[in-house]
Amino acid sequence: MKLLVTGGAGYVGSVCAARLVETGHEVVVVDDLSTGHADAVPDGATFVQADIADVAADLLTGGFDGVLHFAAKSLVGESMVDPAKYWAGNVLTSLRLLDAMRDNGVPRLVFSSTAATYGEPEQVPILETAPTRPTNTYGATKLAIDHAITSYAKAHGIAAVSLRYFNVAGAYGRFGERHTTETHLIPIVLQVALGTRPAISIYGDDYPTADGTCVRDYIHVLDLAEAHLLALANTRAGEHQVYNLGTGTGFSNREVVQTCRDVTGHPIPADFAPRRAGDPAVLVASATAAAENLGWKPERTDLHTIITDAWAFTRDRA
Ligand code: UFG
Repeated sequence: MKLLVTGGAGYVGSVCAARLVETGHEVVVVDDLSTGHADAVPDGATFVQADIADVAADLLTGGFDGVLHFAAKSLVGESMVDPAKYWAGNVLTSLRLLDAMRDNGVPRLVFSSTAATYGEPEQVPILETAPTRPTNTYGATKLAIDHAITSYAKAHGIAAVSLRYFNVAGAYGRFGERHTTETHLIPIVLQVALGTRPAISIYGDDYPTADGTCVRDYIHVLDLAEAHLLALANTRAGEHQVYNLGTGTGFSNREVVQTCRDVTGHPIPADFAPRRAGDPAVLVASATAAAENLGWKPERTDLHTIITDAWAFTRDRA
C-alpha cells in the first residue's frame, strides 16, 4: 500500500514506519521535527519535513491507500499549562488531515490514541467500553479526535482504527525513545544508569498497590508496531474500531527500577517524592479485543526484555 505516516520521525512513528517499509509498503513520512529526529526516518521512506496541517491537502492528492497518524503533542504536564498547544496541535491538525482524506478519497486511517482517554479507571483491566473521562488536556484532545474520526468514518466511509496505547517502552534497533524533555519512567531511570542523572525520584509510595507505588502496563514498541500492521489489514469501510494495546499485566514503579538495576548492573539510587498530580494508581489494559479482532498477540511482554532493548538503544546513542 502507499501510506502516509505522520510523525514518522518520532519514537513510535519511526518504529512503525520502519516495519511498514520492511513489510513492502511504500511510505511517505511527514514530520515537522518539532520533537522528532530526521535520522529516525527509516531508509526507504520518502521524508517531507512539514506541518501536516499545512501540507495534508496537497500531499494526499497523490493516490494514497491509507494514513497512519502518529504526529501529536504528547506531554501530559505541558498539556495542562499550555492547552492551546494541544487543542490546536492535536485536534485542529487532525481535522485538517481528516478533511484532506475525505476530499481525496483516502480509504484507511490508523490513529494513535491513548489510555489517557479513560482517565481514572473504575475497573482494571480497562476495557474499550470503559467510561472515557480524561483527567488531562492531552487525553481530552486525543478523545476529541477519536470522536471526530467516528463521525468522518460514518459520513465518508473511511475505514478507521484507533489504537489506545498504554505505556510504550523498549526499542527496535536504532529506533527508540529520545525526547529532549523526558518525562517517562524507563528512559529517566536509564539516564541514571548512563550517568547523566544522579538518581530517580519515584513519585509516591502510598498508593493502594502491593508495594505502594503506581502500576503500569508496559508494551514493547515492536509489539505495538505489529498491532498497526494488523490494524491496517483489518480496517472496515465506514467503521471506526477502537482497541487497547497493552499486555494485560502491570509492573510497579519499584519493579521497573529494580529491573533496570538487574539489566544495567548499575545501583540506580532511588528516592521517594510526593505523588505526581493526575497519576492513577493502576493502569492495566484488557487487550482481549485486539487479540480477538486483529489476531494481535504481544510477544515481548517480559519487563526484562523490554528494558534490555531500551538499554541497548540508550547505550548506543550515548
Ligand atoms: N514516574 C516516577 N518518576 C519519574 C517519572 C515517572 O516515579 O521521574 C512514575 C509516574 O509517576 C508513573 C509511572 O512512573 O507512576 C509511569 O509514568 P510515565 O510518565 O512513564 O507514564 P504515564 O503512565 O504517566 O503515561 C503514559 C504515557 C502517556 C499517557 C499515559 C496514559 O506516557 O502519554 O500513559 O495514562 F497519557
